[in-house]
Amino acid sequence: MNTMEITKVVGGLSGALLVLLLLKMGAEAYYFPGAEHEEQGYTIAVADEGPVEEVEAVPFSEVLAAADAGAGGRVFNKCKACHSVDAGVAKVGPSLFGVVGRAHGAEEFGYTDAIANIPGTWTPEALNEFLTKPSDYAPGTAMSFAGLPKEKDRANLIAFLSTLQ
Ligand code: HEC
Repeated sequence: MNTMEITKVVGGLSGALLVLLLLKMGAEAYYFPGAEHEEQGYTIAVADEGPVEEVEAVPFSEVLAAADAGAGGRVFNKCKACHSVDAGVAKVGPSLFGVVGRAHGAEEFGYTDAIANIPGTWTPEALNEFLTKPSDYAPGTAMSFAGLPKEKDRANLIAFLSTLQ
């Protein structure tokens, strides 16, 4: 073989490799695992799609059933600058005695419309939502409190509030 022939062979091989590579890329793009292409018409089941994070949605009632009212009493430290647990005793905010099951804005207290106009009662679910971020549940509320981001803290606190009857 002379140099010219070697060049031709190498060139031919490279061309063939390039074609294979392009075919492979095309096939991969078409049968991309995990993605379901509408136009594909059928779906290829791929066994290993990597770890799928499954976030089990546990109903709040279940979290509450397992809650610790004693721990909730300690979470209440964040509230007690503004709320008393004695019946009818308002501070910056209304008394929280008996708040679970009580109508929104039911105390002798100068509520904002943000609270006073909410229909229904403070169910555990309503309290859970309110305490996550008060300004989301009751936009414009005078309660300047950022919220309790941890569901467990909220559940414990609501279990504690339920004992105040
Ligand atoms: C900085 C003071 C402040 C803090 C801290 C605070 N609150 Fe309040 N809270 C208020 C005020 C003021 C209102 C009345 C809001 C309105 O009328 O818009 C209120 C209203 C409420 C209501 C509605 C009561 C009703 O009678 O309808 C609940 C429930 C409540 N707060 C629970 C809590 C809990 C639980 C915490 C602690 C995690 C807490 N608050 C922390 C000031 C506060």
